[in-house]
Amino acid sequence: MTTLAHLTDLHLDHWPANLDAAMDLLAGTDPDVILIGGDNGNDDGLRRTVEALGRAWPEADIAWVMGNHDLWRKPYRHLWSRFSDITATYLEGGNLETDSCTVVGTYGHYDYRGGLATIPLERYETFTDGRHVWNDRFIDRLGRTNPQIAAEIAELFWHRYQAAVARGLPIVVLSHTWPFAPTDDRSRSFFDAYGSNQLIGDAILAAKLRPAVLFCGHTHRADRWEEFGFPMINTGSDYSEVKVTIWDLERGTIPGASSAGHEP
Ligand SMILES: [Fe+2]
Ligand SMILES: [Fe+2]
Repeated sequence: MTTLAHLTDLHLDHWPANLDAAMDLLAGTDPDVILIGGDNGNDDGLRRTVEALGRAWPEADIAWVMGNHDLWRKPYRHLWSRFSDITATYLEGGNLETDSCTVVGTYGHYDYRGGLATIPLERYETFTDGRHVWNDRFIDRLGRTNPQIAAEIAELFWHRYQAAVARGLPIVVLSHTWPFAPTDDRSRSFFDAYGSNQLIGDAILAAKLRPAVLFCGHTHRADRWEEFGFPMINTGSDYSEVKVTIWDLERGTIPGASSAGHEP
């Protein structure tokens, strides 16, 4: 039995109590692999999270990805910085290989395919449809478009996913944004353009082996999709209501995986 724990969107820079809330939810569990899913509260929040988890579960493997908020006021290539002082596997740089599974991960980003086709690319690039504003204008894109950045990220993910397929063990995927755009056109919206990188999903579906399970976050809404032949779970932590998912790799979700609301 391999037990996975997924926590995401703790946003510790503005919600520092969320780390204790997550630790409370995990108390009494015995995870073999702990996945930290992005919007961690910048590099400092990530460090604190890894340290707390490592103290509580010294035998567990810990792996992590960034979220879009962790890239604010930084060039997007911060995504490929080395974090050699952090005692956890940074999945943007390489897979976590355990005796029972391979974990492949990415921040993800967005290629706009979740959005409305009636809104032109230029509008998405300026983060407004004329009425609403998407806040990721704080990421320094170094002159590139968001679909170009999404493609750069997906290309590297594809190579890591292929390495996981070659290994032959069950594959666990961790992404911050959704790897699939909404399949129902009615679910598309201006904001959904910034929710998914379908190029990651395309890489998964083109491979010979599907994930055993996929975890994501970013939308702050708990959700579960099965339509791609494997469970895709959005744990759905929100700023004031932390959630975690506990998952048995062989049997699926473990009852009791829960959430906790608290005052900031
Ligand atoms: Fe978030
Ligand atoms: Fe996010």
